[in-house]
Amino acid sequence: MKTAARRLIIAGNWKMHTDVVDGASLVAGVIERTESLALAADLVLCPPFTHLTVAATQLSGSSISLGAQNMHPAPEGAFTGEVSARMLLTSGCRYVILGHSERRTYFDETNESVNGKVRSAVSAGLTPILCVGETLEEREAGRTETVVDEQVRRGLAGTEPETADDLVLAYEPVWAIGTGRVATPDQADQVHGHLRAIVADMFDDDFAGRVRIQYGGSVKPENAGALMARPNIDGALVGGASLDASSFEGIVRAGIEGP
Ligand code: 13P
Repeated sequence: MKTAARRLIIAGNWKMHTDVVDGASLVAGVIERTESLALAADLVLCPPFTHLTVAATQLSGSSISLGAQNMHPAPEGAFTGEVSARMLLTSGCRYVILGHSERRTYFDETNESVNGKVRSAVSAGLTPILCVGETLEEREAGRTETVVDEQVRRGLAGTEPETADDLVLAYEPVWAIGTGRVATPDQADQVHGHLRAIVADMFDDDFAGRVRIQYGGSVKPENAGALMARPNIDGALVGGASLDASSFEGIVRAGIEGP
């Protein structure tokens, strides 16, 4: 079901890594190594909030996009320490990662709170990268499809294809994040196919055929090609390996060129 209409989208989620100076060097390194590859795939860097405006200046004039890792659903207000969709947009972001499992686990985010963020991002003009994925316990109990079904349906409730046109989903099995234990291409493609079917059921086949679904969880240059060659895997959301410009380049090349 992979079609030319679905361009690969490969994003680096830096999490809480690098200081502002190291971050600027990493952005420069990624631009140098991947700028020409951005013709064949959408590339996105998601550094910490503090890096965004510097990174936006560095990336202006390049085809690499900027994204953030979280946001607050309210447009503004007395929410000390929080950042709104419009703040991200005006800092140069096009994308925002929402509902990452680390936020669900350590910051008590729920499908409902993630949904508020998704709707607010979409109405502000940001593209959400909505993360879903099961824990090891849930997988072993045979609950993977039920868990991601709920995450997608509740996470996307109240959105419409017209406004969420370039929505991105990321399947990140919790047991594969930062563990070196990657899902096999078969395992991932099966869940991605299920996610696409849910989107078709919620909206329509046309939108489901356009939604891009990234895989995330221990993606490395060595495994990226086989994953992204699968029909329903349209890119990668890369954690640890995105902190090294040459590894990130290797992943992008593997995605474009295949295994
Ligand atoms: P790793 O690539 O370090 O496993 O992290 C994946 C991830 O959480 C990306 O959002």
